[in-house]
Parts: sequence; structure tokens; C-alpha cells
Amino acid sequence: MKICDALAHGARRLRAHDPRPEATVRALLAHVLDRPESWLWAHDDTPLTDEAQARYETLLDRCAAGEPLAYLLGWQPFRQLSLRVTPDVLIPRPETEFLVDLALEKGDALAKTHTAAGAPGGDPAKLGETPSERPKNAPEPAFLRHATGRPDNDPVKMGEAPSWTAQNGSEAAFWTHTAGAPADDRQNSGETPLRVADLGTGSGAIALAIKSERPRWRVTATDLSETALAVARRNARAHGLAVDFRHGRWFEPLAGEQYHLIVSNPPYIDPTDSHLAGAIRFEPRGALVADDQGLADLFHIIDHAPDFLVPGGWLLLEHGYNQADAVCRRLHRRGFDAVAWHADPFGNPRVSLGQWNP
Ligand SMILES: C[S@@+](CC[C@H](N)C(=O)[O-])C[C@H]1O[C@@H](n2cnc3c(N)ncnc32)[C@H](O)[C@@H]1O
Repeated sequence: MKICDALAHGARRLRAHDPRPEATVRALLAHVLDRPESWLWAHDDTPLTDEAQARYETLLDRCAAGEPLAYLLGWQPFRQLSLRVTPDVLIPRPETEFLVDLALEKGDALAKTHTAAGAPGGDPAKLGETPSERPKNAPEPAFLRHATGRPDNDPVKMGEAPSWTAQNGSEAAFWTHTAGAPADDRQNSGETPLRVADLGTGSGAIALAIKSERPRWRVTATDLSETALAVARRNARAHGLAVDFRHGRWFEPLAGEQYHLIVSNPPYIDPTDSHLAGAIRFEPRGALVADDQGLADLFHIIDHAPDFLVPGGWLLLEHGYNQADAVCRRLHRRGFDAVAWHADPFGNPRVSLGQWNP
């Protein structure tokens, strides 16, 4: 079979399952032949060996059965990195690139005002952005309408409409920030490096992206899964990035330490969610599911983060599209300032954050 015939045959096989079968089969065949996709264009009448054809058919079978392309290819792009992925790790999502954007934005703001006093006991007023003026024991604010200037949420699609909005006026600026922007650490030169912790690092996506885009920052990443950490360490070596990976449950490996930024994309899917029967069934359940309607790990992190944040430090959490209210309420009750949720580029509220000003 020639390459052009293999591509046409593969696209026919996948058409029922895949909205872009031509792109998928091109990626699969390039992977089998260990060639760039562009090579296929110039060699479309080259015959496949029997062995290559058999491997291609196997991948088509797996793809037709719903297995994610990233696992079939063994890699996934994340910001400017290409990351190895195996079924031991969650496939990094575009939504999570948005969490990195926000973490860089908050970290850059901290770094501008940061001095050695950023260590515990430093002056919180010098550290971060303007703290919320709401006293910690004040009643929860009336929930606000969705922030303007972004795509509206579709209430049907969204279920419960989230009601928190940014309190610090930084959202408009955020929306001009380009995902995947080139590394720019210049503004932080000469300043004490920030300390960043990524909890539940999986493939290392968040930690490695932050380290690659802010090389002076010190990044520590934890995960409960040893096999996930092995993948993350391999990715770090492949990209020459120095991240301190540690094994353990949430904050346990960070005992006695404090950070300027804590970021996490923890498991947040309700164990009864019907989506678990879909394509995500190929991903590790321990990366997906959390008790209490998916909120148990998010709440655990919120409750314990203050012990691990410097004054003025930020906690940033990715969560489900319908969990922003619950997460923001918990942040508020725990005493965080500047609590806000942010909608991702698809218009879904997927990241909530708060600043710790004890
Ligand atoms: C949703 S995945 C996120 C992976 C990666 N940060 C990303 O965004 O692609 C959640 C990660 O949390 C890890 N995890 C689950 N429970 C944990 C726990 N109790 N302590 C530490 N990590 C945990 C899982 O192994 C998984 O790697």
C-alpha cells in the first residue's frame, strides 16, 4: 500500500469517530515512519513495508477504539514544550496553559515588588497586588455578575452560572496576554527568585512550562504517583529544566517550606460523572476523580495552602467549569484575599485564585 492510499484508507476508518481524520492519520503515519509530517507530502507514492502497515493498522484500531492521540504518539504539546506522555499521566490540556498564564502574571507582579523580605515575616503590603479591602470575617460578598469583556457562558452548557468576578482589575490585562508567549525572564533579573510549587504535577506540564518561561524561579513539583513522577523527570531531562520533583501527598513533601506561588490542577471530577466512560477512561483515574462531587482535593489544598505561602503569596487552582462558586467560597472562608475566578479562552470559568495576606 502506498502512503497516499494508507492515508485515504485511515481517514475513511476514523471518519465516524474523528472530526479531523485526515490530520489524525497523517500524525499516526508520520509517527510509524518516524518522519516529519511534511515528508509524507513529498513521498505519497512511496510503498509502506508490511511491518509499517501492520503498526499503522494497530494504531488505527486503537484510535477507533477511542484511545487519545497523545497516548498513541507518546507526546503532547504544552505551551512551547513537547511533553512525553504515557497512560501513567494525564494528557496536559490547553485549559491548563491558561493556569500557567495566570501564574506567570501573578508571579511577575510579585517579583517586581519582591525583596528578600518576601520570606516569611516580610511586609505583605510590599509583596503582591492590592489586597482586597474586605475584612476576613466579613460576610461573603453578594455574588457578582460574570465579568465583562469575555465570551458569555452558555448557562445551559455551564449548568450553574458562576458568580465571582475579579476584584483586582487585572483581568483585562490578562486577556491581552498571549498563551505560549516566548520566554521572558528579563523583568525579573536581579531579583530574588520566586519559589513556586506545583501540586499533582503529572507529566510535569505546569512546573516545566513555568520553569522554561521563568528560568530564575525555583520550581518544586509533587505527585502521589511515582510513575507519573518518572514521566515528569524524563520530560525535565529532555528539556534541560531543573525542577525539584518530590513524591508524596499534596503538601507532605513540602513540610516546613513556604512559596510565593502554589499552583495545582488536582483531580476534580465527581466519581459518578458520566464523562468518565468517555475518552478520559484511558487516563489514570487517580488523576481525574475526587470525592465530594470532585471538590475534596481542591478543598484540601485550599485549607492547607496558607501554611505554605509567604505573606502576599498566591494560590491558583484549576477546576471544573461548574466548580468556580464552590472553590471561591472556600477560598474566601479560609481567609484568602482578592478571590476571583477567571474564564479560559473558551469562556469557561476554570481557574480560581486567592492571595494570602495573614
Ligand atoms: C488532573 S492531574 C494534573 C496533572 C498535571 N498537573 C496537568 O495539569 O496536566 C492530577 C495529578 O494529581 C496527582 N494526585 C492525585 N492525588 C494526589 C495526592 N493526594 N497528592 C499528590 N498528587 C496527587 C495525580 O497523580 C495527577 O498526576
